[in-house]
Amino acid sequence: MPLAKPTVAQIQELAARYPSKQSAIIPALWAVQHEQGYVSDEAMGEIAQHLGLPPSLIEATASFYSMFLTRPEGRHDVVICVNAPCMLRGADEMAAYLERQLGVRDGQTTADGAITWHSTIECLGACGGAPMMQVDHRFEENLTPERIDAIVQGLRKEPAPHGAEPKRTARPRVKKAQS
Ligand code: FES
Repeated sequence: MPLAKPTVAQIQELAARYPSKQSAIIPALWAVQHEQGYVSDEAMGEIAQHLGLPPSLIEATASFYSMFLTRPEGRHDVVICVNAPCMLRGADEMAAYLERQLGVRDGQTTADGAITWHSTIECLGACGGAPMMQVDHRFEENLTPERIDAIVQGLRKEPAPHGAEPKRTARPRVKKAQS
């Protein structure tokens, strides 16, 4: 699906704003993900074209950062942190509880297409609120089973945070090693 005109205009504006075009890659990826729900190979090609950079550079950036989705997933993206500080405050139990409540394994999408979830060993930068998870682009901290229930119930009713309604997939996402 070609990018919408406002997204193309945004990428062109980003290309003009930064002295180095490489600085525009991450905001351009965000612009595409907000429009389409994920960043397809086709969209990466368009970004490369508008920024005048090799497509391999766009792909390398999109695949390096776990916040970018490179294939369609559920309406909502839930990432639960299982790095050491969160683990010490019960992240394992919260991840197991989330898995039971959603009825799908790590990396999969719920049957109603509402939620794709996965765990990550990358610290998400909110250790003070451990255990925590990232729901779309916001943090949910100090998780308990009750809080997870409330969050999941809300997400099942909420539309996607972006305009596009991505198709479902049950393929697991690749977890990235901590750098
Ligand atoms: S270890 Fe989980 S947010 Fe830092």
